[in-house]
Amino acid sequence: MNKIKIAIASDHGGFDLKNEIINYLALQKIDVFDFGTHDKNSCDYPVYAKKVTLAILNNDFNRGILVCGTGIGMQIAANRFKGIRAVCPGNSYCAKMSRLHNDSNILTLGQRVLGVDAALEILNVWLNTPFEGGRHQKRIDMLDE
Ligand code: RB5
Repeated sequence: MNKIKIAIASDHGGFDLKNEIINYLALQKIDVFDFGTHDKNSCDYPVYAKKVTLAILNNDFNRGILVCGTGIGMQIAANRFKGIRAVCPGNSYCAKMSRLHNDSNILTLGQRVLGVDAALEILNVWLNTPFEGGRHQKRIDMLDE
């Protein structure tokens, strides 16, 4: 799957930033499917992390974005699943390196931590940086052994 197909979800704490990201991706003509939540009522982030995680593991999508208050709960939840490499970068350098060296397949973001512009900058770098492969592939394989 070469073209980026994104699965996105949030809990209530990430609802507004998730909508900003969906609008941004639509402007870029990037395929994105919203797995919820669909309102600001309190809900549980592991439920939404699991939806996106399974969509990626089933190969229906190749990248995922998960938004909560801090990005941390979503990151922890997604990384419980073998084959998932979820990262919560606080800056675009970490976002870039997470793609180059770690082939991160899920980006988690914190609505209560990042402004919209900072979040979109991180997202943009994460979307447009390829995996370097080579010696890093062996290390990634070790994660799932
Ligand atoms: C919800 O209040 C909050 O705990 C959640 O969005 C997230 O930040 C958890 O890590």
